[in-house]
Amino acid sequence: MAERSSGYIEGMIEEDKRSASASAGKCLVWEDITVVAAQNLRNDATSRKQLLNGISGFAEPHRIMALMGPSGSGKSTLLDALAGRLPANVKMSGDVIHNGNKRRLNCRDISYVTQDDLFLGSLTVRETLEYSAQLRLPSTMTKDDKNEVVEETLTKMGLQDCAENNIGNWHLRGISNGEKRRLSICIEILTQPHVLLLDEPTSGLDSASSFFVIWALRNIAHDGRIVICSIHQPSSDVFNLFNDLLLLAEGETVYFGEAKTAVKFFADAGFPCPIRKNPPDHFLRCVSSNFDKVITALMISQRINYGSSGSLNSEMNLTTDDIKGKLINEYKSSQFSTNARKGSKKSLHCRKNLPPNQTRKIVAAGGGSYAH
Ligand SMILES: Nc1ncnc2c1ncn2[C@@H]1O[C@H](COP(=O)(O)OP(=O)(O)OP(=O)(O)O)[C@@H](O)[C@H]1O
Ligand SMILES: [Mg+2]
Repeated sequence: MAERSSGYIEGMIEEDKRSASASAGKCLVWEDITVVAAQNLRNDATSRKQLLNGISGFAEPHRIMALMGPSGSGKSTLLDALAGRLPANVKMSGDVIHNGNKRRLNCRDISYVTQDDLFLGSLTVRETLEYSAQLRLPSTMTKDDKNEVVEETLTKMGLQDCAENNIGNWHLRGISNGEKRRLSICIEILTQPHVLLLDEPTSGLDSASSFFVIWALRNIAHDGRIVICSIHQPSSDVFNLFNDLLLLAEGETVYFGEAKTAVKFFADAGFPCPIRKNPPDHFLRCVSSNFDKVITALMISQRINYGSSGSLNSEMNLTTDDIKGKLINEYKSSQFSTNARKGSKKSLHCRKNLPPNQTRKIVAAGGGSYAH
């Protein structure tokens, strides 16, 4: 118990500092984000599905945040909500505040790297960036200045060696998948956005390429930017690069706080990470109900006894759904949740100069549209 208290006190002090700075710096804050999708044209209560349920948190400059959770937990939906790019069939309520005010997040403030790499395969890496720079950088900049930005960006993402290679397509062999992912990031950082959102920038990459991508993103964050990226099952080396962690399960927050404190949170909640297990693997195993479904199906069809490895907590007789429920409740009553709300609230109160009717209270339908 004493250990638990000291862990919480350390966490609280660190989290208090973070929530205090959320109000002071140029932060991105999201408060009570709820997203509901109409699954068919009837749009009655039975046909609606809740994708996110009251998610609150904040992201600070100089820090990189991992957005983790099992498949279908709402990671892309949250990124879409933060970027203002929700599809037309969903409704969102809640606030997204950048820099303490309610103004529209314009293109220079926020960039979003989605999962798909869409390029012209016949262009080289440098040509792609040069065209993008011509189109996206201000017309007041000279061509030489724009090319200088292109060179800097290529170096930052380690693409100098393949700058003259074709990107390639189904019939033309080109750059590797890791290089394509880095090129997608290059295009978005050309305009030097303050907030960079990325949906699974490491999907399909091996651990070394993943490490390279997250390392480069961490450097971008260290330049004073906010970086938030969703990621599936990072290796421990990659996980250690993240400052903050938001863990979702079925649209609910399981943990929001410093990445390094998550192990303590799980241990205090009664689900310690086994020694020699990669912490992010453990976090996901605790909240992925799909594991139970797969194992049950295998046991029935192949009459295999998975013993203790089949159930995460066989001694406690808990299903993954039970564990997930316990963790969600534990988070709700924890200091981490209080601090997430405190950070959001303080930032909301910073918006002194704007009249109340400009509050970006979003109840508008579709397209992630921001009401102003
Ligand atoms: N526009 C939509 N209409 C209806 N349901 C949707 C819509 N967008 C997402 N969903 C559902 O919401 C849930 C969360 O989807 P989302 O894509 O955010 O998950 P995710 O965590 O990004 O998953 P993955 O790791 O597989 O990318 C899923 O069950 C998905 O089917
Ligand atoms: Mg996704």
